[in-house]
Amino acid sequence: MTQLSPATYPSQKARGAYYTPERIASQLVRWAVRNSTDRLIDPSCGDGRFVAAHRNSWGVEQDAIAAAKAKRRAPWTTIHQGDFFTWAEQTHESFDCAAGNPPFIRYQSFKGQVRKRALEFCANLGVKFSGLTASWAPFLVATTGLLRTGGRMAFIVPAAIGHAPYSAPLLDYLVEHFDTLRIVAIREKLFPRLSEDCWLLFAEGFGGSTDEIRFTPVEQLGNSDVPPLNSIGIPVCEWRDVWKRRLRPYLLSDSARSLYRAVAKHQDSVHLGAVASIGLGYVSGANDFFHLRPSEATDMDIPSGLLHPTVRNSRVLPSKELTTQTVDSWRRSDEPMMLLRLPKNGHLPTSVSKYLSTYAGQEAREAYKCRMRNPWYSVPDVRVPDFFLTYMAGRSPSLVKNLASATCTNALHVVRVRDRHRASSLLGVWQSRFVQLSCELEGHALGGGLLKLELREAAQLVLPSPHVVSCLPDSEIESAISTMRNWRHYASTQ
Ligand SMILES: C[S@@+](CC[C@H](N)C(=O)[O-])C[C@H]1O[C@@H](n2cnc3c(N)ncnc32)[C@H](O)[C@@H]1O
Repeated sequence: MTQLSPATYPSQKARGAYYTPERIASQLVRWAVRNSTDRLIDPSCGDGRFVAAHRNSWGVEQDAIAAAKAKRRAPWTTIHQGDFFTWAEQTHESFDCAAGNPPFIRYQSFKGQVRKRALEFCANLGVKFSGLTASWAPFLVATTGLLRTGGRMAFIVPAAIGHAPYSAPLLDYLVEHFDTLRIVAIREKLFPRLSEDCWLLFAEGFGGSTDEIRFTPVEQLGNSDVPPLNSIGIPVCEWRDVWKRRLRPYLLSDSARSLYRAVAKHQDSVHLGAVASIGLGYVSGANDFFHLRPSEATDMDIPSGLLHPTVRNSRVLPSKELTTQTVDSWRRSDEPMMLLRLPKNGHLPTSVSKYLSTYAGQEAREAYKCRMRNPWYSVPDVRVPDFFLTYMAGRSPSLVKNLASATCTNALHVVRVRDRHRASSLLGVWQSRFVQLSCELEGHALGGGLLKLELREAAQLVLPSPHVVSCLPDSEIESAISTMRNWRHYASTQ
């Protein structure tokens, strides 16, 4: 066996190699296997924890060291060492059931030939994943290609299955190919060392179809030999049309969900995206170079017309309004709060040319984003928004009125209001508990107690009228917010 040196060996994260505690692996195998003669496959078996729990099992594993360990752990299994998608394309083997914990490799690292093969394999089964898919979703689809009619599968999946758009084609495919699809959301961390939460997926009756997703939110996994039966039946059409293919809203009670829907559909409610455009702040490519302190700008004689006050990150931002007084206070404390904003064309003052040719300038122009643009020193997409929106929050994202004509980096979203009339009441409504609930439902948990609002999620935020807000039952909304925060471990990190 070829030994790779530590320098060339891909990291645990790059391989998505986080092995499952044996207790959970054997429990999932018990869910999947019905008879001792059932043929079981783990498509990414690591060091063999799933295959070791059943006598008639097969494992595929890319990593030679892990594959050898799997063979030692369970000598009775057949272990194929190599890429699962290549093997799946060629094999004539078929299985009664599958269980495992597929690699969670994000789209940025899930690339090259493996991704190409994975997406082609899934496309042949009729599932089209976008380029943003992480590796685990194609693994599950490809595994179904090896199942016999009536087959079952039991897998650990990231909690992203409850919100990530790339996981929707997987769920669409599973409800069209299995009699029953169960998703078990588990609040307890199955992998305490990982920031991401994990849920479980169980499907049975391959070859059939269903019009509902059985969903069970539980605190802890427990030790049952069968998946939890006390589930909510989510009609697939409701999941698709009402909740835009997201399962997270089903962490709430029926009544909280109905209340949210009623407010969202109220004639006086709007989505943030309907009254405002939401975009990214600028990417300078070299913040240390492009963000100057007032004293540096004075020393270098940079004309004030080429400097623009900027918000570098959400930490420096007040909670409701950014005023000129705050910006003046940054200036007085000589913070790096001036963006060097140079035009694409035209003559540059000598002082600026001198700064660009310093050692720091030479370094900055080599930075990836600077190399990719022409001219390298002209930062694009510098916008002066009406509001700044924090998109990574502990408690709740802030919408901050820009009274200082400042711009901001991509550490913040920029919000430009289309409807001035509505804008005037925006801030008042933003402070309401209902909008906080909307952030919890439309955004997603990032791990470590954080809530993230992608641009498309921010556009979906529901803004009721002040009158509707005043009529809402505070305690029910409060309790819904705390349920969602509890699921993203916000409360437990405070
Ligand atoms: C999350 S670990 C799980 C291992 C095992 N199922 C468990 O839960 O203990 C995922 C495994 O997938 C393997 N893997 C990653 N890409 C693979 C590929 N293309 N084909 C086969 N295995 C792969 C990794 O080396 C890693 O061992």
